[in-house]
Amino acid sequence: MKRILITGGAGFIGSHVIRTFINRHADYEIYNLDKLTYAGNLENLRDIENNPNYFFIKGDIADDKFINQLFADYKFDGVVHLAAETHVDRSILSPMDFVKTNLLGTFVLINAFKNCWKDNFDGKLFYHVSTDEVYGSLSMHDKKFVETTAYDPRSPYSAAKAGSDHLVRSYFYTFKVPVIVSNCSNNYGPNQFPEKLIPLIINNIRNNKSLPIYGKGENVRDWLYVGDHADAIETIFHNGTAGQTYNIGGDNEMRNIDIVTLICDLVDQKLNREIGTARKLITYVKDRPGHDLRYAIDFSKLKNALGWTPKTNFKDGISQTIDWYLNNEVWMNNVISGDYQKYYELQYSNQNY
Ligand code: NAD
Ligand code: TYD
Repeated sequence: MKRILITGGAGFIGSHVIRTFINRHADYEIYNLDKLTYAGNLENLRDIENNPNYFFIKGDIADDKFINQLFADYKFDGVVHLAAETHVDRSILSPMDFVKTNLLGTFVLINAFKNCWKDNFDGKLFYHVSTDEVYGSLSMHDKKFVETTAYDPRSPYSAAKAGSDHLVRSYFYTFKVPVIVSNCSNNYGPNQFPEKLIPLIINNIRNNKSLPIYGKGENVRDWLYVGDHADAIETIFHNGTAGQTYNIGGDNEMRNIDIVTLICDLVDQKLNREIGTARKLITYVKDRPGHDLRYAIDFSKLKNALGWTPKTNFKDGISQTIDWYLNNEVWMNNVISGDYQKYYELQYSNQNY
């Protein structure tokens, strides 16, 4: 029986990773450590919460004393580290939270892992989940990001994640801690907090609210279905090589405006109303400061080394995702807390709708 600590498991990607590990590894005890910030929601794990191999621990990864005690008590064999502050717009409004959790929190965790196993790391692994945003912004004709692309983060979110990637790698070279880092493109799917583009657009269409497009809507993201990301993480955790970095992507670059119009038309179709109804809600707003133009991931290293490719094509994935949000109104209403409403008002208060 192996003990695996998954951090941030009550969040969007973390909940899918926990489900994937629970379903595929009956011989693991899975511990979900999560602070339950506005983005953490145990509803995301209702279907597996009574599994005898699943345990939830509420706590902050940046709390040094608590984390060291946790490792002393449980001696986790492996860590899959996802806990983070994740929304770029929030990182512009309150960067301190991002430095505390993403940078300091990652340091506290890997340092506790090192202290726990000291010089004997046989069969142990610290897996750090990161983002393609650490590589910065591509122009339309630049080649895709590869693992050796120089880091060039441009938001407090991506800068704090970049720092955490460097710290994790430094523990491999300096202390021989077995680590793996993966950098993934934008995820979409069920259970994503509706501050991110896709669930925000679906929810606003449902509520007949305007659909804010930053700038001209020409920014490009490489979208990957969240279940495919969870599958990649599980594959890399078991078959990847310590000390290595793996890029994960969807081979699916799309402009924001094209995603939004596609969602508009699909929702109209699913609600049996005239196509074009939802598009009328599209509103161009002031651009995000430092808005990265394009992200695109070359994942050939992962494909060639471990045989992983995305399984869900975007048309199916986005259709299933829209169905999930339309069918889970209660989930949506519950996660839109007072905190989120206040933030939303602040974010858009000076934008020209
Ligand atoms: P999320 O915001 O949905 O969830 C983050 C989770 O971390 C929440 O459950 C929250 O409660 C928890 N958390 C936050 N601060 C914490 C702390 N101090 N201690 C313990 N728990 C804390 O995020 P997500 O979109 O699921 O992203 C998960 C990870 O994947 C992040 O590390 C992110 O950088 C990375 N990632 C995300 C994407 C994406 O498109 N969403 C893409 C690539 C990589
Ligand atoms: P987001 O989901 O915040 O992910 P990230 O910034 O990490 O890529 O945003 C995806 C893209 O959508 C990004 O180019 C910003 C844009 N966007 C909008 O145009 N309007 C919005 O309301 C949001 C939240 C994002």
